[in-house]
Amino acid sequence: MSSNTKTNSSLPDRCSWINNPDIRPYAFVRKENWFEKPGSHLSDCDWFKDQDVLIRDPLSMKEEGFARLIMEIERRAFHQSGMPMPGWVFYDCGLIPGIVTGFAYRTSKLPDAIKYTLGGSRLDTEWTPLSLFIAIPCGNKKEWVAHNLTSINSLLPQEDKFYGLGFLSKSFGLWYSNIKQICGMTQWTSPALRLHSNYGDFEVLTSYTPVHSHPHTLTYRCALKFEAWQRFFDKTEDKAFDKRFKLNEGHSIDPNSAESLIDFQKHIETGEGPYFLKPDQIRNGKIGDVLNTFTGV
Ligand SMILES: CC(C)(COP(=O)(O)OP(=O)(O)OC[C@H]1O[C@@H](n2cnc3c(N)ncnc32)[C@H](O)[C@@H]1OP(=O)(O)O)[C@@H](O)C(=O)NCCC(=O)NCCS
Repeated sequence: MSSNTKTNSSLPDRCSWINNPDIRPYAFVRKENWFEKPGSHLSDCDWFKDQDVLIRDPLSMKEEGFARLIMEIERRAFHQSGMPMPGWVFYDCGLIPGIVTGFAYRTSKLPDAIKYTLGGSRLDTEWTPLSLFIAIPCGNKKEWVAHNLTSINSLLPQEDKFYGLGFLSKSFGLWYSNIKQICGMTQWTSPALRLHSNYGDFEVLTSYTPVHSHPHTLTYRCALKFEAWQRFFDKTEDKAFDKRFKLNEGHSIDPNSAESLIDFQKHIETGEGPYFLKPDQIRNGKIGDVLNTFTGV
């Protein structure tokens, strides 16, 4: 597939950057972890079918510059949260057991806004990463862990953002790696919750996580469904939600209250879950709003 023939039309116009021939998805993955038929599980997803994927080998010295730029974007994006990823975590926990994916821009064509944002970094690789999504397989072999999601949008002024870059970076990695079920960790008041909760039915595994450096961390699990991905952009309601789930009355979650997170954690540990959140409520509400919880019908 030539990189000049991208014709994706099923995404909103605001995501048309994905058709730019100077932007390509990448897979930073060692040969032993390659997939036989990338994209074969979520075969109804046509977002990436015309994409010419850049393959990068983490075991090669040639990729030092590309890896350095991924780490640089990550470091700057996580600076405020105090959770930037050390190089050894990137390598030992991400690149060796799993796969790192995202989008990259041809460096010779980089817009000034990105050059400015990455000011001080050496831009001497053919491609400059714009985002990263790290997925690691779990010991149970059915699930993967979404370990990190970072988009350069978080560093760019509003007018220079690539709309949907974060959501599409995770989508691409999940699609490319044929992942069926993903677990992940995020903080309750992080804007990323809006993205993570919209890949399928969204189960809460922990609402309060004292073992983590940030106890207000939510651990989630999600069985992937492409129709949920489409709804993220269409902003249409999941009309079948009420047929699959019923309200878990008296057990809402206040993301800003430690007491509420601990109460719900006790409910998870003693109740008859599994318990779910409603993706539409998170997508359309404000970060930090009180959230309803649900059980399967
Ligand atoms: C969270 C993150 C990955 C989102 O990526 P992104 O490229 O900015 O997000 P997208 O363009 O895919 O966003 C799509 C939607 O999320 C919303 N969104 C993204 N960042 C937001 C923010 N900081 N506050 C509120 N809404 C936000 C967008 O407005 C958009 O919603 P809309 O369609 O209603 O306008 C990115 O902000 C980031 O890298 N943050 C720093 C690192 C981080 O916290 N990672 C998550 C760890 S779990």
